[in-house]
Amino acid sequence: MPLPKAELHLHIEGTLEPELAFALAARNGITLPYEDTEALRKAYLFDDLQSFLDLYYGLMAVLLTEEDFEELADAYLARAAEQGVRHAEIFFDPQAHMVRGVGIGTVIEGLGRALDRSEERHGISTRLIMCFLRDQSAESALETLEAAKPYLDRIIGIGLDSAEVGHPPAKFREVYEAAAALGLRRVAHAGEEGPPAYITEALDVLGVERIDHGLRCMEDAQLVERLVSERVPLTLCPLSNVRLRAVDVLEEHPLARMMDAGLLCTVNSDDPAYFGGYVDDTFHAVREALGLDRERLRELARNSFEASFLDGSARDEELRARYLAEVAEYSFD
Ligand code: HPA
Ligand code: ZN
Repeated sequence: MPLPKAELHLHIEGTLEPELAFALAARNGITLPYEDTEALRKAYLFDDLQSFLDLYYGLMAVLLTEEDFEELADAYLARAAEQGVRHAEIFFDPQAHMVRGVGIGTVIEGLGRALDRSEERHGISTRLIMCFLRDQSAESALETLEAAKPYLDRIIGIGLDSAEVGHPPAKFREVYEAAAALGLRRVAHAGEEGPPAYITEALDVLGVERIDHGLRCMEDAQLVERLVSERVPLTLCPLSNVRLRAVDVLEEHPLARMMDAGLLCTVNSDDPAYFGGYVDDTFHAVREALGLDRERLRELARNSFEASFLDGSARDEELRARYLAEVAEYSFD
């Protein structure tokens, strides 16, 4: 039985496995520019974030109907359950669908159908986080928030993803202020490819509660000190960092050093269909590569629930307490 954990950095579109992509393409009458699933997998040779994003956005062409989004989410949740996930806070990229003529309602209602059944079917509590594409304009983000207004009861918060360099957090100040006024929680990708200053800006200008990735904080000792003292969670994705060349090899990943420094680290899968592993696979990989002992792994699992947004109600607190008890009682043997 895998270690119980929450997954806090997971792009639902990044769970689209080649087999499902081909099945949806066939159902929707779309021809993919790959011979078969094997040829598609062979295309997963990324040099950096941008080369990954090009493929990631391209493959989304197969996602058209509510059923497509429902199947995508249900397939992820089934796999996540096998990986010990008890709670998942799931990102989605509405602009990447709206630009293709797929309405935000189709996306949210489709994902919502799978999420509504998740506790019963998979034993996983869920939340949805709507991400804005930072390489699109601030106006487009504001329009997307406006379009999401009829569905806000399904969304816990907002995030910021896509190509980071050249698109600093401050570009999205207005939409983050508007989201805060609507009672939405706030997170942002920062310090993946972008500089440590983007992490500071995400905290100070956007008011985020968690930093997604945040790897490059290690270049700035003062920033590390701040993140430690303010207990800002970082949602790290070590396999993603290797595949997108943020680190050369897993053995050189700073996760262990970050934990030693007192940072509140969590381990997540980011885009598991593309990066070679789901979240428990990632736990195993970092254990091997970095020599993390059992108490370090337990700390990562505990952090995942502590950093989650399971704090909005008595029911949330009850769930979180139950999950934390499971982590405390978990036996590695
Ligand atoms: N970084 C930025 N944007 C993304 C990612 C990521 O790791 N995955 C999906 N969109
Ligand atoms: Zn990500």
